[in-house]
Amino acid sequence: MTTKTYAPSDAFVSKAHADRATYDAMYEKSVADPESFWAEHGRRVDWIKPYSTVKNTDFSPGKVSIKWFEDGTLNVAANCVDRHLETRGDQTAIIWEPDDPKDEALHISYKQLHEEVSKFANVLKDLGVKKGDRVVIYLPMIPEAAYAMLACARIGAIHSIVFAGFSADALAARISGCQAKVVITSDGAPRGGRVTKLKDNVNQALINVMHDVTCLCVKRTGQQVAWRPEGDVWLHEAAANASTDCPAEEMSAEDPLFILYTSGSTGMPKGVVHTTGGYLVYAAMTHQYTFDYHDGDVFWCTADVGWVTGHSYIIYGPLANGATTVMFEGVPTWPDAGRFWEVCAKHQVNQFYTAPTAIRALMAHGSEPVEKHDLSSLKLLGTVGEPINPEAWNWYNDVVGKGSRPIVDTWWQTETGGHLLTPLPGAIPTKPGSATLPFFGVQPVILEPTSGEEIHETACEGVLCLKDSWPGQMRTVWGDHERFEKTYFSDYKGYYFSGDGCRRDEDGYYWITGRVDDVINVSGHRMGTAEVESALVAHAAVAEAAVVGYPHKVKGQGIYAYVTLMNGETPSDELRKELEVWVRSEIGPIAKPDLIQWAPGLPKTRSGKIMRRILRKIAENDFGSLGDTSTLADPAVVDDLIENRMNRD
Ligand code: WT7
Repeated sequence: MTTKTYAPSDAFVSKAHADRATYDAMYEKSVADPESFWAEHGRRVDWIKPYSTVKNTDFSPGKVSIKWFEDGTLNVAANCVDRHLETRGDQTAIIWEPDDPKDEALHISYKQLHEEVSKFANVLKDLGVKKGDRVVIYLPMIPEAAYAMLACARIGAIHSIVFAGFSADALAARISGCQAKVVITSDGAPRGGRVTKLKDNVNQALINVMHDVTCLCVKRTGQQVAWRPEGDVWLHEAAANASTDCPAEEMSAEDPLFILYTSGSTGMPKGVVHTTGGYLVYAAMTHQYTFDYHDGDVFWCTADVGWVTGHSYIIYGPLANGATTVMFEGVPTWPDAGRFWEVCAKHQVNQFYTAPTAIRALMAHGSEPVEKHDLSSLKLLGTVGEPINPEAWNWYNDVVGKGSRPIVDTWWQTETGGHLLTPLPGAIPTKPGSATLPFFGVQPVILEPTSGEEIHETACEGVLCLKDSWPGQMRTVWGDHERFEKTYFSDYKGYYFSGDGCRRDEDGYYWITGRVDDVINVSGHRMGTAEVESALVAHAAVAEAAVVGYPHKVKGQGIYAYVTLMNGETPSDELRKELEVWVRSEIGPIAKPDLIQWAPGLPKTRSGKIMRRILRKIAENDFGSLGDTSTLADPAVVDDLIENRMNRD
């Protein structure tokens, strides 16, 4: 099979930050001498006290430690806001596009951003928030989310954003997990014409939180909210008299900037910790090179700030670069399937970055909603979150990009802080479905999964690991460094293990084949199957549950749950509905099982281990090749599951 390659136009290359020769030379230097490469590029941000050491990292078992620029000091908010005041104070920093297109968009200049962030920071200080304290942010995509993040950074508080689509229970676990002093929310969150009651969710969450938490509430919708007599504060009241002067705290490069909880293959979500210096350098540099961002461009990443993509490519990367960044409160398909393109035309977007799942959903509406809008401002398109299938890539390229915009397929993770595999658009010809080559300083390796041996042949397949550190790498799991080592550095000693399978082709291009652990990717969102299982078994009618992924046309992967009921419970459609609602309330709508199969029994080994491999095959409707089933305790269980399988596509 030959794959077509797509090279950037000469016009694009001539203006790009990096052509092929530049990429090759910089990449070569970045891996041959990371110290001097990053010593040079670390200076792209402003330091209060310059660093004298650059890289101090160790992946070896038992002593994993990652430090970059460790003796330098800086402030992230000063870098994202203050340092632009002199040169671009009146330039728009954030274009905010509301959920309802009939409402007015906001253009927030760097000067205004500075005032809002400083005021917000003073409000947090008045609430007793100090350097190192944790603040949970549970907000819709409104400017206050950006102010809140930058206000925390300004005073040295560590933010932990919880996606507004998560339930009260999930929120409670995260507030407790990092012992947050304050939770910032809004009365309601409008999205796609509907409103989620965020403040109500906070109230419900706080019932299950054992320590005192202040709730700072933004008025977004003006709806009625239940007010806790103590510990609730309206932002507009607290900010009314707050000063717009708030000095930025001097932070060490390795002070935590934020915690972001993400799902893994076992147990509760982990609090991924990113720090100040290396993260900012890496987010800013990848934003500039991957998207070929130039001064004056309008950049739009459609993610939510509740995910790492929003952290690095709506807020920190773009603002550190003095960019104009779009923040969108709505959804791609409301009021109609042309919304993304309407916003692109309205704000003259130059770089557009979204997820394959959104592309597939829009593709289903045909090309008409795209063609209604003038997309001539677009210079580049990007994707992130999951492998992109060729149909979606071609549609994105032909219909949205008119065949003339480079597409950057960026592979990375919450843990990596920024892009690790991505084409640089002026340098690397793309192949649909491949994240192509490593970013500067990134050393991918493919290991043979069982032996853990590095495969040196160019064309090969195995598990994807990283041989050495990069500045944006996560530093630890909040409160559990042992779990950090165990999750990422113990299966393959001396490497960072990504959890992804990967193929490398004869040109050295990387093709992500998907997770090799019990993590599934639903609409570009990571979901631990163990989490959904524990939500299911928490229901009184459920004795046992096993959850796997299966191919889903729009979501990439859907959630397939095998459920064994308690003795005396009868399967019914009502119970199925009830379990769906239950999981939504335990975790959030994104975790709702797409298919639930009643399983009288689950396939287990004689020692009682569930054979997930078999469950995956049945869920994929590919049960002809179940592999070795000789260790099954009761083979009849499998026949029943096959006969009653829910996916027959
Ligand atoms: C997992 C990380 C950080 C971006 C948002 C998701 C999958 C991510 C790609 C891509 C193929 C991708 C991987 C990865 N993934 N980008 N371009 N091609 N797969 O962040 O929730 O931390 O999930 O998303 O499986 O491990 P995340």
